[in-house]
Amino acid sequence: MQLVENLIARYVRQAEPGLLTADTFALERKPLPPLREGEILIRTIYLSIDAGSRAQFDDRADYVIKAVLGKVPGSSGAVGEVVESRHRDWRSGDLLVTPHARWQLYQVAAPAAEPLLRRIDPGMGPLAMHLGALGMVGFTAYIGIFHVGRPQPGETLLVSAAAGATGALAGQFGRIAGARVVGIAGGAEKCAFVRERLGFDACIDYKAGNLDQAIRAACPQGVDVYYENVGGAIQHAAFAAMNDFGRIALCGQVGQYSGAGAQAGPNLMTAVLKRLQIQGFLAMDHLDRHATFHDSAAAWYRAGQLQHHATLTQGLENIHEAINSLMAGRNIGKQLCQVSAEPGQEFPLTAPSFTAFGPGASHR
Ligand SMILES: NC(=O)c1ccc[n+]([C@@H]2O[C@H](COP(=O)([O-])OP(=O)(O)OC[C@H]3O[C@@H](n4cnc5c(N)ncnc54)[C@H](OP(=O)(O)O)[C@@H]3O)[C@@H](O)[C@H]2O)c1
Repeated sequence: MQLVENLIARYVRQAEPGLLTADTFALERKPLPPLREGEILIRTIYLSIDAGSRAQFDDRADYVIKAVLGKVPGSSGAVGEVVESRHRDWRSGDLLVTPHARWQLYQVAAPAAEPLLRRIDPGMGPLAMHLGALGMVGFTAYIGIFHVGRPQPGETLLVSAAAGATGALAGQFGRIAGARVVGIAGGAEKCAFVRERLGFDACIDYKAGNLDQAIRAACPQGVDVYYENVGGAIQHAAFAAMNDFGRIALCGQVGQYSGAGAQAGPNLMTAVLKRLQIQGFLAMDHLDRHATFHDSAAAWYRAGQLQHHATLTQGLENIHEAINSLMAGRNIGKQLCQVSAEPGQEFPLTAPSFTAFGPGASHR
């Protein structure tokens, strides 16, 4: 059966700095071309929303491919269900995760050309987890902790944006590595979540002020490894708390991605005086480690050592709000835009927007 229409979200109005407005995008129905040999048609269930989702509309952010006015923006991943197949290994009803997706209800993919497109075992936890703890953010955090920062048992690891997708996983991996883990997050509610649900040893609310003092109090032995996600004043305070010869895993600078203007540059003299080792990294450079990551993270999840948390925004028409949720810090864990129902699910959902998965996790 060939479906006739797709639903797409087109980028139609130049994004202004700051939060995105609904009129930046327009929903359209568009005919789908017939599948070619070797292709599959995927119904999108979840689209990954991440820091790069906003950066693609900021001309000055140079680490993502820019969205083009008049075209359909891209996403760093999707979970979906195969609804038609012209590939001998794929059947209607198969569930998969792919790192290449557009803002549309249906995606066409050629599995042979996409090595990271993977079939999902429906028995392996919730579907959304394949864009979170078992997805690219999980992989990013795994590389940043085990191959860049390398916290040792008893060392202190400090993680910024600790209640967000990457930070929450970086901290959990730090605990698995045996470190004492301290988070930085915005607001008392997020800090309670980081401590009580994720099991960090402490969490600092950077919005409460006195950040330097708060880090010193939470890290009495100083900071050995800093997992950097945000930049600006938080980065300054974290560098100042580092022990001599400390290591910094430079994962991102989310505070700079919304076109809101440059933040204070890095305090590099502190890095000189403390002889810090600073390493930027991109998870995509380490794909040879992806299979090991996936096996390890799945085993930790099964053993109850790793939790996945997600915040859902429903409907392709609300995708700008999903991005705003991330930039305004409303998300806890992995931010997703749910485009259509999981198998057997009513859509739109009446359930709350925040979901938590994993042994010990509960819904709220
Ligand atoms: N190197 C790589 O390969 C790679 C791959 C993926 C992601 N990343 C990086 O990982 C970081 C996190 O990305 P994510 O997609 O997982 O997003 P996320 O952490 O789930 O969400 C972003 C969080 O950042 C915080 N935030 C937003 N604006 C901020 C600001 N101006 N100052 C301080 N905090 C701010 C908010 O939390 P609060 O409420 O706590 O402020 C928000 O929840 C980003 O820097 C991204 O570039 C890097």
